[in-house]
Amino acid sequence: MDLRFQLLVIVVLFRLDVCVPNTLDDLQKDYGEWRLQRSPEYSTAMKFHKYNDKTETFAYKGFDEEFTKSTNLLNGLMNTVVYNQLSPKQKTDYDIFKDTLTTMINGYKWRDYNALNPINFLEGPQIDPSYLQSITPFDTVGDFENYLKRLEDYPKQADEMIERMNKAIEKKHTYHRVSVNRIPGQIDDVLKNAQPTTFPMYLPFKDRLPKSSIDETKKQDLDRKAQAAVSKIIDKYRHLKQYFNQTYFKHLRPKFGVNSWDNGTEFYKACLRWHLSLDITPDEVHEKGLSEVKRISSEMKKIMVKLNHQGSVKEFFANVRQNRSFYLQNGQEIIKWYKDRIKNKIEPQLPKFFKDLPNLPVDVQPNPIDGIGGQYLAGPPDGSRPGTFQVNVFHPEKSVTIDFMALLLHETIPGHHLQGSVQSTNVGPAYRRYNLDDKYFQPPFLPPFYTAYLEGWALYAESLGEEMGLYEDDYELMGRYGSEIFRACRLVVDTGLHHFNWTRDMAIEFMLNYTAYSEQSISTEVDRYLTWPGQACGYKIGELKIKELRAKAQKDLGSKFDIKDFHSIILKDGALPLDILTKNVNQWIDETKRASSVTAAPCISKASTNSRHLNLLVGAVTMCFLFKFRVF
Ligand SMILES: *[C@@H]1O[C@H](CO)[C@@H](O)[C@H](O)[C@H]1NC(C)=O
Ligand SMILES: *[C@@H]1O[C@H](CO)[C@@H](O)[C@H](O)[C@H]1NC(C)=O
Ligand SMILES: *[C@@H]1O[C@H](CO)[C@@H](O)[C@H](O)[C@H]1NC(C)=O
Ligand SMILES: *[C@@H]1O[C@H](CO)[C@@H](O)[C@H](O)[C@H]1NC(C)=O
Ligand SMILES: *[C@@H]1O[C@H](CO)[C@@H](O)[C@H](O)[C@H]1NC(C)=O
Repeated sequence: MDLRFQLLVIVVLFRLDVCVPNTLDDLQKDYGEWRLQRSPEYSTAMKFHKYNDKTETFAYKGFDEEFTKSTNLLNGLMNTVVYNQLSPKQKTDYDIFKDTLTTMINGYKWRDYNALNPINFLEGPQIDPSYLQSITPFDTVGDFENYLKRLEDYPKQADEMIERMNKAIEKKHTYHRVSVNRIPGQIDDVLKNAQPTTFPMYLPFKDRLPKSSIDETKKQDLDRKAQAAVSKIIDKYRHLKQYFNQTYFKHLRPKFGVNSWDNGTEFYKACLRWHLSLDITPDEVHEKGLSEVKRISSEMKKIMVKLNHQGSVKEFFANVRQNRSFYLQNGQEIIKWYKDRIKNKIEPQLPKFFKDLPNLPVDVQPNPIDGIGGQYLAGPPDGSRPGTFQVNVFHPEKSVTIDFMALLLHETIPGHHLQGSVQSTNVGPAYRRYNLDDKYFQPPFLPPFYTAYLEGWALYAESLGEEMGLYEDDYELMGRYGSEIFRACRLVVDTGLHHFNWTRDMAIEFMLNYTAYSEQSISTEVDRYLTWPGQACGYKIGELKIKELRAKAQKDLGSKFDIKDFHSIILKDGALPLDILTKNVNQWIDETKRASSVTAAPCISKASTNSRHLNLLVGAVTMCFLFKFRVF
């Protein structure tokens, strides 16, 4: 037999067997591993410990690496994967992957915009210096050495941030004052009584090291180096404060909106595109906001009539706040309230609305620090640790119970916890099982985490609560509408600020007109919108899209519409762009119509259940742990 022929057969077989079916998987795996490598602290948080001694780079040249790698992967995808040979599920994987890479490639031209400003009053090294130790293991000498290596690297990371901000100054793409004016105070807080041996980053050497079995000389060596490293970090914080005070603050953006930058109108549109994953203009977003505000206001008025309340919405909520019957005594009672509602109200309703849910536990805990109102931290997909809803219970005297249900539904079930549980256990490609959602300052040059899908689902969950009969009375319903109109106002105000030249005061006044929140919290909200253009529009736009798709499915399918199937279709692929979601729903409508009397609603199929086990094995070595909270 001709040896050359034999070789050719082997080569062909090899290619057929390994390369062709696996190319999409390989590319996605390559991408996922590269993302982890680029986000070493995040990897540690996800219990993927390969990069525990590395720190994330903020060097400007990293932008080029992001662009080149994304371009190479996209070329690989386009040139080697034949779309028509893929299964429907793989086609969705392909579409999402392509969107992710394309978003990065399109974002590159905006690298010299907001992406140059990694520090603001919501993000940066001054926000939570004890975060690192909270995610780091301290079991072996290697753990301490890795951690120390990171501490030694942090001053360099801060210099890289400064390098970026200097570039922002050069390009005239800096923040408005309100995004950064709290920073010196925040750094002062970090530095309060700062000594190397009391600084949060040093604490593992004080609390954990002495108890470890590491030998004494090594301990002393580690301790000495840690003190030296932390001392340099403290100096670097001082330097950072000085940098803001003496340099950055001299070059602030004078106008509120990012449209005041060169090409700023286009830049804002790109931000909206990134967060909303839809082609939608600022005018359309603004109009949708106004009409939603109007619609929800009239819903609220109807309820107020029922409750015999004569005054405005504002006065209604003011009355509620003065009524002792809307408060609980203390934090413990608040936690109990939430736990009780999950177990006795929400969970019994789930079978009517969902099917094939992974049974991942969720817990309610008090928030350790007096920060935001609530946050959700996911547990691992094996359920060994529950997902946790952390509630701020520091101010029971200011927390009215009518606000609780919407928040609970949003953060836990059927909101973030339920969605994240399906995503972390059902989605094939490992890189999509978790949401690497940080660096909110960086869009549109950032891998998309599909804000509109994630937050749209959570807001949809709040409205689903009404169908599930979870709001117990008209007061709780008012709480729900209060939370919904707040998100509708964001559409008006975000576009107002960044597109229609609104001032901050106009934005605050608009929010005050329609929501129940205090002027102080609204001001902070508006400063958030000024800092993260477009982000706050994700909630309402995503929810409206899900509702629109549902209305279409109900209309097209009539009596064949099954809410459980619809929810499975929305949830099965995890976070994705809204146009792909639309495509999935339309496909499902067609299939359901075709299947006619035979029930064949595709859901979490047998095949995907099998591949799930397979993927979880891979996931165990790469990434299988969903972490990170979302802002409300
Ligand atoms: C710099 O900081 C000092 C002290 O905190 C303050 O008095 C001064 O106004 C600041 N300068 C600027 C330009 O903000
Ligand atoms: C901004 O506009 C200028 C001039 O219209 C153009 O040359 C440049 O490419 C634009 N930059 C971006 C990032 O779109
Ligand atoms: C306080 O709220 C309860 C409902 O929880 C309502 O029945 C009562 O009228 C309210 N009291 C006042 C003074 O508004
Ligand atoms: C915002 O202001 C700029 C400059 O003053 C102006 O060119 C632009 O047309 C305004 N935008 C809108 C939507 O009014
Ligand atoms: C807020 O309401 C007042 C009174 O109805 C109105 O005059 C004002 O224009 C509103 N402000 C905004 C920004 O819509």
